[in-house]
Amino acid sequence: MKSFASSTREIPPPSDIPRHIAVIMDGNGRWAKKRYLPRVAGHKQGVETVRRVTRACTDRGIEYLTLFAFSSENWRRPAEEVSTLKQLFMAALEQEAERLHQNKVRLKIIGDIAPFGARVVELAGRAQELTAHNVGLTLTIAANYGGRWDLMQALLKLVRTSPLPAEGYTEEQLAPHLALNYAPEPDLFIRTGGEQRISNFLLWQLAYTELYFTPTLWPDFDAKQLDAAIAWYRERERRFGRTSEQLEKTKRESSGRRRIA
Ligand code: IPE
Ligand code: IPE
Ligand code: MG
Repeated sequence: MKSFASSTREIPPPSDIPRHIAVIMDGNGRWAKKRYLPRVAGHKQGVETVRRVTRACTDRGIEYLTLFAFSSENWRRPAEEVSTLKQLFMAALEQEAERLHQNKVRLKIIGDIAPFGARVVELAGRAQELTAHNVGLTLTIAANYGGRWDLMQALLKLVRTSPLPAEGYTEEQLAPHLALNYAPEPDLFIRTGGEQRISNFLLWQLAYTELYFTPTLWPDFDAKQLDAAIAWYRERERRFGRTSEQLEKTKRESSGRRRIA
């Protein structure tokens, strides 16, 4: 029978810690509301959680952490909140870059950040340059990012750079133009705040990611909760379209090979 090509990558070894974790950091507003505080207090506390989780990922040897900080739909929020989020983003870029660098973190920003203004673009450029050669955790912040935006910009780049071949474009040709072209597809997706939706995050890259939803609000998320998500991930059987029996057979064969070697 004909087999169809898929760009989804090969099955990674089971029970490994995830190489790449992608997170929708949700629940800052509700965290603040519960405490009768303005929403901005929740966002400020959320920045603390970013520090905590980044450190926890470094300590656990996670290679890639991708955080959704501002979606292409978040412009619909009140202007005052948008402005606060922009200020917090700017302050973090300015104040955290050196510390990230010391911790060997490579910082990447994905999304169309131009609408945040020249200062943000400059600070983002500087922080990324400073940390570009670091070999520790790759921390990606998605700001004014949308999965649909990403697919469209990748498609436009592909069309501009290579004329349509007679047989058409392939998935492999599109992938290098996506914003996360430097990272493997996420193994584990975490959404805090209780909603069970993707909200236009990494539409292409989440095709075979294990999806973990927790009611914990982002400001309350900590290393223990990260460990719970990773423990849950380790229990998953990642089949990538195959059957359980096929996976068992591959596992037996590879452990047999290891015993012989
Ligand atoms: C996530 O928290 C942060 C951003 C979207 C920037 P929210 O601000 O969405 O918090 P809730 O969902 O209102 O609680
Ligand atoms: C998703 O959170 C975007 C970010 C965390 C940056 P939202 O709180 O904006 O998501 P929806 O709109 O409720 O789905
Ligand atoms: Mg929300």
